[in-house]
Amino acid sequence: MPTIKEILQTMDYGPAPESTKEAQAWLDQHGRRFGLFIDNKWTEPGETFGTFNPADGSELAQVTQATNEDVERAVEAARSAHPAWVAMGGHGRATVLYTLARLLQKHARLFAVLETLDNGKTIRETRDADLPLAARHFYHHAGWAQLQSEEFADYRAVGVVGQIVPWNFPLLMLAWKVAPALAAGNTIVFKPAEYTSLTTLLFAEMCQMAGVPAGVFNVVTGDGRVGEAIVKHPTINKLAFTGSTEVGRLIRKATAGSGKKLSLELGGKSPFIVFDNADLDAAVEGLVDSIWFNQGQVCCAGSRLLVQESVYPRFISKVKARMQTLRVGSPLDKSTDIGALVDPVQQQRIHGLVESARAEGCEVWQPACDTPAAGSWYLPTLITGASTTATVAQTEIFGPVLVASSFRTPGEAVQLANNTVYGLAACVWTESISLALDVAPQIKAGVVWINSANQFDAACGFGGYKESGFGREGGKEGMYEYLTPRAEDARPAAPLLADKGRADKARSKPAEANTGANPFQIDRTAKLYIGGKQARPDSGYSRAIVGANGSFLADVAEGSRKDIRNAVEAAHKASGWSKATAHNRAQVLYYIAENLAARADEFVARIAAQTGSKNAEREVQASIERLFYWAAWADKYDGLAHQPPMHGIAIALNEPVGVIGIVCPNENPLLGFISLVAPAIALGNRVVAVPSEAYPLSSLDLYQVLDTSDLPGGVLNIVTGSADELARTLASHFDVDAVWRHDGSEAGCAEVERLSAESLKRTWVGGARGRDWFDAKQACGRTVLQHASQVKNVWIPYGV
Ligand code: NAI
Repeated sequence: MPTIKEILQTMDYGPAPESTKEAQAWLDQHGRRFGLFIDNKWTEPGETFGTFNPADGSELAQVTQATNEDVERAVEAARSAHPAWVAMGGHGRATVLYTLARLLQKHARLFAVLETLDNGKTIRETRDADLPLAARHFYHHAGWAQLQSEEFADYRAVGVVGQIVPWNFPLLMLAWKVAPALAAGNTIVFKPAEYTSLTTLLFAEMCQMAGVPAGVFNVVTGDGRVGEAIVKHPTINKLAFTGSTEVGRLIRKATAGSGKKLSLELGGKSPFIVFDNADLDAAVEGLVDSIWFNQGQVCCAGSRLLVQESVYPRFISKVKARMQTLRVGSPLDKSTDIGALVDPVQQQRIHGLVESARAEGCEVWQPACDTPAAGSWYLPTLITGASTTATVAQTEIFGPVLVASSFRTPGEAVQLANNTVYGLAACVWTESISLALDVAPQIKAGVVWINSANQFDAACGFGGYKESGFGREGGKEGMYEYLTPRAEDARPAAPLLADKGRADKARSKPAEANTGANPFQIDRTAKLYIGGKQARPDSGYSRAIVGANGSFLADVAEGSRKDIRNAVEAAHKASGWSKATAHNRAQVLYYIAENLAARADEFVARIAAQTGSKNAEREVQASIERLFYWAAWADKYDGLAHQPPMHGIAIALNEPVGVIGIVCPNENPLLGFISLVAPAIALGNRVVAVPSEAYPLSSLDLYQVLDTSDLPGGVLNIVTGSADELARTLASHFDVDAVWRHDGSEAGCAEVERLSAESLKRTWVGGARGRDWFDAKQACGRTVLQHASQVKNVWIPYGV
């Protein structure tokens, strides 16, 4: 008689297909041809292209390729609708968002089936993940709309936003973008990915039902050309993009200098770390969710498996055994694990990358199972033996392909985890909470899931570090992406210089020339400040700084590319500052303030001599106060403990950005410098500062103050010289994490944004306008804190 185990082994799942009747009827109702959704009306279909079911290659419908004129009309509709949408108020918008949430729930099955048909992802995922999460986003953001006047009183809606999403989570990405934008009072021009437009079009219909006013939500369908038209549209105020890093870079370049707000959610190559004391079976299940969810077409997929050496062979054999049981097949079947890839193009791309690994000598393992004859499929794949620099270990494959390697120590695990240009997510598996919470902050990624994978919630921000982009979606931080501080509107049209035009009087010359005819005259060229020491400039050049009355004040070192490189290196060496306690950082800032106060008279005289300002005394007092202000924040900008719908907690940590290059304003040379540098170091960043080009002496006088204030060497480095040249070097430097420029140079700010596209570093630029550095609303507050930090969400389930 066969044993129960033997019987179970012979049993297989029966077919359990989901009905497509309702979805097919909806497509038929539209004649399987769709126009665009502009101003609450459907346009006649224009030039169209097919959208296909990737599971069998059949055409589902024809969708319109929007033209530039269509984009123009959509933007105009959104622009006209904006004032009334704002005037509707928080509660008015909350009721609309709430209605959308209810409609998503009511029509969940139709949405889920349509998504599965159009994308190829399994019905299990669209039904159990995409739809509930999309509805949750609308509920949550109905709440933010309701609370807007209380929680975001000092902010206004940005205006018209352009949103461009990829094909891997068509409806969910829509929800992540549309819900916060609408809640904050923006109007939208939305572009779905060309492979997956259908659920967006169905959502547009829901907007009509929900009473979303005409022009508030507009859809333009089509390929990258439509995206480009949105990106380049001159009157769109904000762009939100999710997709490939390559296109993200193009968008950063295209919008440089435009003043458009920008958030980019890009690629990833996320590590999945398994320590030897992990629950290995649970980790295998987590891995299935991490890399085989949505066929691995997930930006935060755990595509790099890192396993502690002592359990590596055992874990790999468990993974292989589990892969053998994954069911590949019809995505509409409720017991399918792995559905179809979105398009044959993706299949070829994945195939090419896997074959390159094979050619490089890696072992490629796939379970023995068949894939359907028609459609685009790829078997779950495990690659071992790849070097850390192999293409498959570094490139986002965006398919069901896992690359595994081993490590010995937690330190090595962190090193390997961070050995990528990306920084979107990471999973850490261990039964030791102490180890998990030690490792999580060391990983440079926007999300860390402990003993879990791919957890998302509307209340928790999601977004990347490094080349995975910037900006967050979800949570309060996600709302700020769609808001502008009202204080920005009050900024002066141009910098308010005490003595306009002085900057031009400073001229570069070799240092020796300043010594004059007298051979005994001492060279008093003010030096650079690098690694806590004064340093001569590499160029050997200096420039003369002339005072308000035209007299020569001092020679100042002419910093160059090489000096910036040294300063960045010194800043990296000072990484201990980011780990110093907030209390310690606050103390140092208070100490700087105290030492500045002790020499206030000197600073007053220096400001007056440089700028001719009658306000010099006020500026020094304000600088001292500002140091106190940022010292006060240093240990108060706490994170949050979110309670997402799981048995656990998600901790939002405000982490430093890293090394920030700051080009300081010419307005108020001391106060402007301190207003930017102090918050950066208060939050644990290290800084390479370029003082005011015209009036650098006040910053240089700080050297002695810094030396006597216990600021560790390398935390603040000061390089004087040409703002343009030094900003260029900072923006192009791959080891600088962010660049701020606030000297009123419009072209210079645009250049910083353009050059920063290569490494996708964060930027904060002031553009041509000035800033009243005395005005706390313009120079202090949450906006500055947000620029000086990045949010990491650490998910910690418990009791499992
Ligand atoms: P993509 O980045 O080209 O497309 C994403 C969206 O951007 C689509 O709506 C597309 O029409 C639009 N787009 C394309 N070119 C544009 C342009 N110049 N300006 C504005 N919008 C533009 O991604 P694609 O081609 O669909 O996939 C290629 C690879 O990108 C994938 O194999 C994957 O590696 C990666 N990818 C990563 C995603 C992520 O979330 N990390 C999402 C989608 C793709």
